[in-house]
Parts: sequence; structure tokens; C-alpha cells
Amino acid sequence: MDHTDHPTATLPGDVRIPLLGFGTWQATGDAGFKAVLAALDAGYRHIDTATMYGNEEEVGRAVRESGLRREDVFITTKLPPERAGRERETIEASLRALDVEQVDLWLVHWPPSDAGALIPIWREMLAARDAGLARAVGVSNFSTAQIDELIQATEENPAVNQIKWSPRLYDRQRHVEHRDRGVVLEGYSPFKTSDLSDPVLTRIAAAHNVSPAQVVLRWHLDHEIVAIPKSVTPERIRANADIFGFSLTAEEIRDIDALGGS
Ligand SMILES: NC(=O)c1ccc[n+]([C@@H]2O[C@H](COP(=O)([O-])OP(=O)(O)OC[C@H]3O[C@@H](n4cnc5c(N)ncnc54)[C@H](OP(=O)(O)O)[C@@H]3O)[C@@H](O)[C@H]2O)c1
Repeated sequence: MDHTDHPTATLPGDVRIPLLGFGTWQATGDAGFKAVLAALDAGYRHIDTATMYGNEEEVGRAVRESGLRREDVFITTKLPPERAGRERETIEASLRALDVEQVDLWLVHWPPSDAGALIPIWREMLAARDAGLARAVGVSNFSTAQIDELIQATEENPAVNQIKWSPRLYDRQRHVEHRDRGVVLEGYSPFKTSDLSDPVLTRIAAAHNVSPAQVVLRWHLDHEIVAIPKSVTPERIRANADIFGFSLTAEEIRDIDALGGS
């Protein structure tokens, strides 16, 4: 399937985020470069990195060497909140490392330990977006209450909240809270928090002739939740992107939701 057919969600500013992205935490150095290049070759058009991952240079080099046009690859990076007060120099360093003029999405990696820094950081994120350094800005590991604080202070909702998510962590109420606030839910660690030998997942995988890992990713997409699986193994990189040839029935989605117990 051509990547242009990949499903997307729309962020404020009419920015389209592909629902399938490629995670790069712990994919560093040459292994990280090769993994991102393999991912782009396998059809991913969305790469998730962070200042903290120490691989922005490799991600940028892989995007360039892929031969794809910059505008065809969605790039996310993240601000470590202890850089509060140095937000602008941090994103400028990210842009230099990635060798791009702007990122598509810039996230606050986790809430600052000093709650008083929350709103000032968010204002700096918005200012960077307004200056064109990021097309959209959002958060990661934020509670709904913390998201509400941002909205109350600035009337600007984060485009995305990237949080740990998987069938076992499924929380319908939390998803609804994001939707109600216009915040796209982006899930991370889909496999690390899954039991891929769970009988519900293996039964549904067998019914579609796919793997339980592919079922987990397809379940995210069928809920319109962004998934960013990570792998440095070429066949897994390819298999994790090969999830557009089937979809889950409403009953299968309900059975998988029930693994979260909510
Ligand atoms: N915002 C945050 O605080 C935060 C925190 C954690 C993660 N993230 C982001 O989310 C991404 C994904 O999360 P993650 O890296 O924690 O975990 P993950 O994607 O759930 O799992 C990665 C692990 O699963 C293995 N794997 C990959 N495909 C598989 C498959 N088809 N079957 C079985 N095992 C498979 C990988 O092994 P191999 O690599 O050896 O193939 C690796 O050990 C990260 O890379 C990062 O970009 C963000």
C-alpha cells in the first residue's frame, strides 16, 4: 500500500499526523540510523525521537538518505522539561541535529517536577510553534488535569498527549477525555506493556492470519490512536508496518478493550 493511503489524524493548524509512527528510543548510533532507514523503506512516514534519545542526528541523516521529500516524513521530537528557561535553544539544537527547518510536532517529554514551570514551558512551546520552529506542539505523560491547566491558562490545547498505551492499559474514559479536549492520543510502548501470548490476541491474530503484535497495532489505529512501535529488527520493522491489509470487527475491538478491564 502506498504511504499516502496511511490513515492520519488532524492536529490544529491542519497538520496531518500518520497514525502509524516509528519509535526510536534506545535505537542509537549506526543501529538507530539503519533502523530509521529501514522503517522509511518499509513505508513508515512518521518518526518519533526526543532530545533525550540522543539520536536526532541519525534520524535526520536517515530521512535525508531515504530520498524522501522532507514534507513526506512527519518528525516528532521532545523537550526534556528540565530545560525550562532554555526551550528555544533546545529546539534550535534539535533542528540543527535533525538538519531540518522545523519539526512537525514538538512535545514536552513529561511534566516538570516543579509544577510552577508548567505554564511558562507551555507558553514557550506555543511561541516556538508561532515562530515556525514546530508545526504543532503537545505534551507527553500528562494527566487530564495537567492538560486542563494548560488550556485554562492559554486557551490552547496540546495537539497530542503521548502516553503509555496498550490493550492491557486501555482506559475508555481517558480516551474520551482526550477526544473531548481535542487532544489526539498517541500511545507508546505498545509491546512492552502487552502480553503477546494472550489468548484473546492470539485468537484474533489467527482469524486474520496476522501476528498478535500486528493485532495490537491495528487495534490502536481502529481506535484512531497513534501507535509508535519501535524495533531495530528488519523483519519486525516491516511486519509492524504491514497492518493495512486487515481491520478488526467491532466485536474484536470490544474483546481487546476488555483486556484493559475498564
Ligand atoms: N514519551 C515517552 O515518555 C516515551 C516513553 C517510552 C517510549 N516512547 C516512544 O515510544 C516508542 C515505542 O515504545 P518502546 O520502545 O518503549 O516499546 P515498544 O515499541 O512497545 O517495544 C519495543 C520492543 O519490542 C520489540 N518488538 C518490536 N516489534 C516486535 C514484534 N513485532 N514482536 C515482538 N517484539 C517486538 C523490540 O525489539 P527489537 O527492537 O529488538 O526488534 C523492542 O524490544 C519508543 O521507541 C519511543 O519513541 C516514548
